[in-house]
Amino acid sequence: MLIALLPGDGIGPEVVTEAKRVLDALNIDGLTYEEAPVGGAAYKTLGHPLPPSTLDVARRADAILFGAVGDPDCDALERHLRPEQAILGLRKELGLFANLRPAKLFPELADASALRPEVATQIDMVIVRELNGDVYFGEKGHRTTATGLREGYDVMSYNEAEVRRIAKVGFETARARKGKLCSVDKANVLETSQLWRDVIIETSAEYPDIALSHMYVDNAAMQLVRNPGQFDVIVTGNLFGDILSDQASMCAGSIGMLPSASLDDGKKGLYEPIHGSAPDIAGQGKANPLATMLSAAMMLRYSLDLPEHADKIEAAVAAALADGARSPDLGGSMTTAQMGDAVLGKL
Ligand code: NAD
Ligand code: IPM
Ligand code: MN
Repeated sequence: MLIALLPGDGIGPEVVTEAKRVLDALNIDGLTYEEAPVGGAAYKTLGHPLPPSTLDVARRADAILFGAVGDPDCDALERHLRPEQAILGLRKELGLFANLRPAKLFPELADASALRPEVATQIDMVIVRELNGDVYFGEKGHRTTATGLREGYDVMSYNEAEVRRIAKVGFETARARKGKLCSVDKANVLETSQLWRDVIIETSAEYPDIALSHMYVDNAAMQLVRNPGQFDVIVTGNLFGDILSDQASMCAGSIGMLPSASLDDGKKGLYEPIHGSAPDIAGQGKANPLATMLSAAMMLRYSLDLPEHADKIEAAVAAALADGARSPDLGGSMTTAQMGDAVLGKL
């Protein structure tokens, strides 16, 4: 089975290196790897953030382990050449429409959360984020108003097929957990959200065993820090899911802890930490690699049918944390490589 390794920019290569060490330590038969440049790193060497050669590796692979893209040097480029277009392009080109972002607090990290420990320890949820539509992929541009003002615009839309397929993932995810699904939208203001809500309700007829609720996104942002334990599965659109998952990560201790899986309608997936390239700490050995290791565990579970190896990674991460392994984001002083050593020592 072929794994595409796309380290990317900033701390991306640093965290992917540690995740790869963990994968190597598992000695899994039949895994092969191909590495390719992506994001700013690819723009600087090959002139495009998602060069055809990289897209080709990603297409051929059974799964993709991705670091992060984003480089301040590239922020002034035309949009289609910016590093972030690489991850958007991969999601779209490969039909990776279902983004699972589990947020669970390792009990050892209760003191690392920005929330009071008794509130934080309740969090154990999955955000199911739609990844191929919404305002991210609508028509966008700049124009001049009738009175001569510069104006930017981005069109938000979802069609019913797009909502139905992510709704099913949301319901199925809830069915495999505690049976509670909360759909997050802004139906009090947005027509896109009204259609979203209508289709979620229609789809719920196929899932009478699931307790469905609806919440406006502003309230959901508040409830996530007031009482994160109330959520089992959240299903939401691309933009709201992006924002809420960064917020949920702080309930779980740090943005450096949250993994993700971006799945198509089969077994193929791209696996990445939810965080970005963190230019503010890149090259300093300060990045927490655990989210990327936990993403590798999700890859073993979802795309490679190796759940026992996924369990081993997750148990080793928990054991390292129990022993006191802490990178700076978790209130400690261990380097990225030392965090890797700590997990390897537990495998
Ligand atoms: P970011 O997630 O990169 O960083 C936000 C803050 O969290 C920073 O202070 C950073 O140091 C910290 N942080 C992030 N990951 C960490 C880790 N593993 N360990 C310790 N601390 C960590 O978000 P940003 O600063 O808004 O964006 C930086 C760049 O990354 C931008 O170019 C953005 O577009 C890009 N980005 C890419 C992805 C992706 O590739 N999927 C995701 C988010 C942001
Ligand atoms: C994420 C990131 C991306 C997104 C950016 C880099 C395009 O924030 O994966 O969470 O908005 O989806
Ligand atoms: Mn994000």
